[in-house]
Formats: sequence, C-alpha cells, structure tokens
Amino acid sequence: MTRLSQFAAALAVATVAALPLAARASDPTDIIDYRKHVMKTLGAQSASMAMTLQGKAPAENFVLHAEALAIVASTALQAFKEKVEGGGSKPDVWAKWPDFEKRMTELATNTAALAKAAREGGVAAAGPKVQGALTCKGCHDIYREKK
Ligand code: HEC
Repeated sequence: MTRLSQFAAALAVATVAALPLAARASDPTDIIDYRKHVMKTLGAQSASMAMTLQGKAPAENFVLHAEALAIVASTALQAFKEKVEGGGSKPDVWAKWPDFEKRMTELATNTAALAKAAREGGVAAAGPKVQGALTCKGCHDIYREKK
C-alpha cells in the first residue's frame, strides 16, 4: 500500500469507530434508564464513601470513592439534557431547567473540590466537606417524584 492509501484506510477505520460515539440516544426508555444508572451510581458511591468514613469499610478507599463520585457527578447533567418526562423525574426538571442545571453543575463542582481535597489532604481535609458537597436531598425534594 502507498502511504496515502494506508492513511485513507486508517481514516476509514477511525471514522467507523467514531460513529457509535457520535450517535445520540433517542429511545425514551434508554434515556430514562441511563439517567437512573447514573443516579444509582451516585448513590452507591456516596454510600460507599460514607462507610469508609464510619469505619465500616477500608479507610484507604475514601479517596477513590470521592474521585468516583466526582466523575459520575460530571456525567449527570448530560444524562438529563434530553427532555423525556417520566421515570422518577418531575416535569419541573425541564420546566425549570436553568435551576436544575445550576444544581447539577454545583454537585459536579463541589464533588470535584471534595475529590481534590481528599487526594491532597485525605480524610482530615475532605471529611468536613462531605456533607456540604452532597446536595442530593435538596434537589430530590424539588425535582424527584416521591415514592
Ligand atoms: C440537580 C438535581 C439532582 C441532584 C443534585 C441529585 N439528584 Fe439524584 N435524582 C434526581 C432526579 C430528577 C432523579 C429521578 C431520575 C429519573 O428516574 O428520572 C434522581 C434519582 C436518584 C436516584 C434513584 C435512581 C433510580 O434507580 O430510580 C438515586 C439513588 C439518586 N438520585 C441519588 C443521588 C445522590 C446520591 C445524589 C448526590 C450525590 C444525587 N442523586 C443528586 C435529581 C438529582
């Protein structure tokens, strides 16, 4: 193969590989499932992190759970962007989108700061910030259907 045809072949492979990444979810069930998965992961990571602080789980995992929480929180806003009412979400999520967006962005910012403090200063630095970073209930009280 010439260099040019090698390049063209590589480009074709790259293009095909990139396609699924560019595809948008459009099935409403997928959209709701995805945001539920993201939220459940937030729940699991918060609970795991709390257990490391309470001496019920390995303390050395505190930093990793704080980091996982921050990463998942950074995916959460995107998971709600498409307006698909239902699941456990109240219609206000989309009717009051600027407020919802602000709250979800704050969660991502605060958990990122928590993870940074945990990495740099461990439990001593990050422990006191945990409660303030977990603004979960404040949002659920407004935007999540009561069970
Ligand atoms: C900005 C608003 C907002 C924030 C902040 C938020 N949530 Fe949620 N959460 C929601 C909404 C809305 C739903 C309902 C999603 C759906 O089913 O459509 C939800 C659903 C959930 C669920 C139920 C998922 C399921 O299986 O049905 C869990 C668990 C959860 N959140 C945990 C958390 C935790 C833990 C945090 C904090 C670390 C958090 N959430 C922060 C809005 C938020």
